[in-house]
Amino acid sequence: MPQLLHIDSSAELSTSVSRALTRLFAETWRSLGPGHTVVERDLHREPLPHLPNAGLHYAPRLRTAGETPDPAAEALQSELIAEVVAADVVVLGAPMYNWSLPSTLKAWIDYIHVLGTTVPFDTREQPLAGTPVVVVSSRGNTYSPDGPNAGADHIVPPLQQTLGVSLGMDVAVVTAELTLAGRIPAMAPLGDKAAESLSAAEESVRRLAHTLGS
Ligand SMILES: Cc1cc2nc3c(=O)[nH]c(=O)nc-3n(C[C@H](O)[C@H](O)[C@H](O)COP(=O)(O)O)c2cc1C
Repeated sequence: MPQLLHIDSSAELSTSVSRALTRLFAETWRSLGPGHTVVERDLHREPLPHLPNAGLHYAPRLRTAGETPDPAAEALQSELIAEVVAADVVVLGAPMYNWSLPSTLKAWIDYIHVLGTTVPFDTREQPLAGTPVVVVSSRGNTYSPDGPNAGADHIVPPLQQTLGVSLGMDVAVVTAELTLAGRIPAMAPLGDKAAESLSAAEESVRRLAHTLGS
């Protein structure tokens, strides 16, 4: 029974581009058969508290004497890690907020990126190694490598570092750019490019859901 973990973090509930794309991924996944199940986590509707204790960044055996996290926070961390470890594939909505991650998404990363538990540190354990994660990043402007904003994207590189390099997940990135073309009059001439970007993102999402779910 292949299971998808569907995560959203946009604060926009009705017109969000990342939500539309992760929903398309989940719908395509479900269409592959009744055994293709989906677990949903909405980090905006049900935000996680900020990491309350630095000790949660380390496996219990690696904590110092004074690091005694609240048992409820430890239980929440265990639940979040178990949820992502149980997933065969993860789709992650990651809108760009101030060139970076929404704080709701960053909080989730802080809970699941744990030295000695999910990140190999003093042992070789890396339970998420090889799990595919599709990062769907929507952004108001464009950050193409040959454009003037190249290098200002501080959301995809940190996700590649934490999820890919550190947790060992197999990261695929889908971007939808220029999403503010419909909102900001000065960007209206970029409407065609925005539509092209969205349509390419939809195509990538459908293809990835088919490939990863088959
Ligand atoms: C708090 C906030 C900060 C934003 N910061 C940026 C930014 O730094 N760069 C950018 O290109 N767009 C920025 N935007 C625009 C969003 O990236 C854009 O609306 C995107 O489509 C959001 O994803 P969503 O459609 O899934 O909600 C920002 C939007 C919000 C609400």
